[in-house]
Amino acid sequence: MSAETAADPISPHGGVPLVDLWAAPGERDALRNHARSLPLIRLGSRELSDLEMLATGAFTPLTGFMGEADHRRSRDEMRLASGTPWSIPITLGVDDDRARELRSAREAALADERGEPLAILKIREIYPVDRRREAEAIFTTSDENHPGVQNLLSSGSFCIGGDVTLFADLPDRSFPEYRLSPRRTREAFRERGWRRIVAFQTRNPTHRAHEYIQKAALEVCDGLLLHPLVGETKSDDVPAAVRMETYRVLLDCYYPKGRAMLAVMPAHMRYGGPREAILHAIVRRNYGCTHFIVGRDHAGVGKYYGTYDAQKIFERFDQAEIGITPLNFENTFYCRRCEAMASYKTCPHSDDDRLLLSGTKVREMLRRGEAPPPEYTRPEIAAILIRAMRSGES
Ligand code: ADX
Repeated sequence: MSAETAADPISPHGGVPLVDLWAAPGERDALRNHARSLPLIRLGSRELSDLEMLATGAFTPLTGFMGEADHRRSRDEMRLASGTPWSIPITLGVDDDRARELRSAREAALADERGEPLAILKIREIYPVDRRREAEAIFTTSDENHPGVQNLLSSGSFCIGGDVTLFADLPDRSFPEYRLSPRRTREAFRERGWRRIVAFQTRNPTHRAHEYIQKAALEVCDGLLLHPLVGETKSDDVPAAVRMETYRVLLDCYYPKGRAMLAVMPAHMRYGGPREAILHAIVRRNYGCTHFIVGRDHAGVGKYYGTYDAQKIFERFDQAEIGITPLNFENTFYCRRCEAMASYKTCPHSDDDRLLLSGTKVREMLRRGEAPPPEYTRPEIAAILIRAMRSGES
């Protein structure tokens, strides 16, 4: 079946067909041999995530790591050089020595962490970047306590831009049965006859507020794509394997069959708040989703972003150029007097009536083996989290 069809409810981002960076099967051996003669660039886990996002078309219209014009304009104006919206640069950083060594090379082999070549990078340009300036633009801070800033500042101060061709599968890809490329999710939506599809980004175990906003969105859509991010997250986030257990249980016990599906997104977490919300939305458009949930402090960390900044940033673009429709949700909680999940928009009572638990408090309870109230977390999910904490998985 084709990658996407004219009948799909939403086209990929940037007015081009879904990108596919895999070499034809018949050419892979030759490319693998050729790669042995090239300088090798070993990718870390975040770069491997970016490579997978590029290769599968999740980052359409990008066909490789960004050159200087795209880097600069996406940093300063949240657009590619072509004008297409793009809120976070996707770069391959190297240090000064490596940049010097590669100066006269026209191609390089991209390898996994063990040095196994996976892809060929056609080097279009090597350019210096000011990572601090980039951090200020993307994260609105260069504070090294910010996990996204820390990652950015630790990547090289030269970038190599150029198109990529893969000849080998990426290594150690967890959750293979859920690792659906944009082609596969689009196919799955077609098979299910879904036309209005809402995507839910998450990096946390599901709690009742998540479930509430997913189901509220599902009331006006045909299907839900529960789409957790499974690339690198900060060390105190719950590991993806534990989270996946919670998502599976949630779908099995509390969602009608045929209305929700689970798939993973290989991206790593940048904690870029508003800028990352735009990227998350654009990527879900590529996966074939027509709507995207943006709740409170989407992709946030600490106190760097305002509660609804990630919703407001969408107003800086024409709806048509982003294509996917954001569905904004207020801060959501259980209210004892309403006897229901509610938000500041729908509940007239005071915070005394509301079950408002901080993440830290919930973690302390779980560590003591205590399940949070069922109005906060489903008991089946609390059990998974307590077990994971006790076995040191989380
Ligand atoms: S995120 O980093 O992936 O945004 P998380 O997994 O906690 O973190 O959130 C997933 C989505 O649910 C985001 O859109 C977030 O804004 C939203 N969200 C999380 N908790 C709430 C809540 N209590 N009320 C409203 N939206 C929420």
